[in-house]
Amino acid sequence: MQKTFNIGLCGLGTVGTGVVKILQKHQNEIVHQIGYPIEVKKILVNNMDKKREGNIPLSLLTDKVEELVEHPDIDVIVEVMGGIEETYEVLEKAIQNKKHIVTANKDMMAIYGSSLLQFASENECDVRYEASVAGGIPIIRSLTDGLASDRIHKIMGIVNGTTNYILTKMIEQNRSFEDVLLEAQQLGYAEADPSSDIDGLDAARKVSLLSTLAFSMSVQLQDVDVRGIRDMSYDDLFYAEQLGYTMKLLGIASRDEGKIEMSVQPTLVPHHHPLASIKDEYNAVYVYGEAVGETMFYGPGAGQLPTATAVVSDLMDVVKNIRLGVTGKTSVQPQFETKLKHSSEIYSKFFFRLEADDETGTFLAITSVFAEEKVSLDKILQMPKQGRATAEIVLITHEASKEQIDNVLHKLESLQVINGIHSYYRVEGEGEA
Ligand SMILES: NC(=O)c1ccc[n+]([C@@H]2O[C@H](COP(=O)([O-])OP(=O)(O)OC[C@H]3O[C@@H](n4cnc5c(N)ncnc54)[C@H](OP(=O)(O)O)[C@@H]3O)[C@@H](O)[C@H]2O)c1
Repeated sequence: MQKTFNIGLCGLGTVGTGVVKILQKHQNEIVHQIGYPIEVKKILVNNMDKKREGNIPLSLLTDKVEELVEHPDIDVIVEVMGGIEETYEVLEKAIQNKKHIVTANKDMMAIYGSSLLQFASENECDVRYEASVAGGIPIIRSLTDGLASDRIHKIMGIVNGTTNYILTKMIEQNRSFEDVLLEAQQLGYAEADPSSDIDGLDAARKVSLLSTLAFSMSVQLQDVDVRGIRDMSYDDLFYAEQLGYTMKLLGIASRDEGKIEMSVQPTLVPHHHPLASIKDEYNAVYVYGEAVGETMFYGPGAGQLPTATAVVSDLMDVVKNIRLGVTGKTSVQPQFETKLKHSSEIYSKFFFRLEADDETGTFLAITSVFAEEKVSLDKILQMPKQGRATAEIVLITHEASKEQIDNVLHKLESLQVINGIHSYYRVEGEGEA
């Protein structure tokens, strides 16, 4: 009799329902590729009384996790329920019972990923987590397979759809951050509590996962310097445009001579850079490899079917490994010791938007601060503020270290002629104004 691979599905929300749909609709393709059908044996939910979408037999539902992790016929646990500590414990229990794991859970993976991978490997189990970074874009597989022979020097990603949607609408429609956030919440692109997205934590989790893989170092979430877009104003985006740049919330990870830096921060990218054209809720990850050069991966970063596609593809991968008897064989130990760059070793250009007294000597006072810290200036705009005795000064520096920029900021704050430092952001590359 033909074998069927059975899964226990933890969660039947947006992604879980998508997984069921894809398994139902694409079963022919799945069987063709892996030789066997995949069946959902049990589904863990929170609320047994909730009305469910689609054609799902109620007999599959349970609210008892043991019915999945201890089920003798279940080969793989597909975790799409979210949560961190409790979920990690569920997956540990599943691995103890020799179940393989497929998860879409970046929150849990960013904290417990290395322990989970290690524990799974000791138990000869597979763990796959493609959907946890950039939903439908196969970026994890690209790093671990497609680019495995290369040395990755830099990754820059738009890995949070909510913030990309907000920044796109702000500049295209001349709207405030608060106004577009409200709309994003009404459309379901942003959560009722949007802080994890707009403060950059969601993107930071993804950056830590990608950096661990790209640089073969153990990267912790706290190694990622994080700044979100909560304080972004339309004027910041407008002046960036005037100077030839598009503002994006970028996850940046780079390696030079064995040392790495990771951050999530609003960043100006030149209009001609491929990341500048990524609009609305779409995601993209730019990867620079020593041998391959520039590559970019683009697609939907979330959504029911895109995310479920990544989950089911992972599932098929695990089934192939089970058939070949090679589960748990992927190397999970990083190759290199994690060495973080000091702020004096992190270089980029910077954008400043200042408000200063509109009088003789102001300009000299400001440029002197930059000169004292040996930061040279690339572009400068100065606009008088209507009806006020102040002017808005927008400037972009040449490359300087983060340490130099911190010193400049400190000195500007105490400069008499400065009425306010509205904003400062990292700049990548050369804009064409
Ligand atoms: N949505 C996306 O586009 C997307 C994209 C990439 C990654 N992800 C990740 O995928 C995971 C699932 O996201 P989602 O959007 O599908 O979430 P969701 O719609 O809120 O669904 C969560 C599901 O898990 C169940 N559940 C939650 N906690 C549970 C518990 N303690 N015990 C039993 N069942 C529990 C819920 O049960 P009830 O139905 O009974 O409430 C629900 O069916 C998350 O880790 C998320 O970060 C989502």
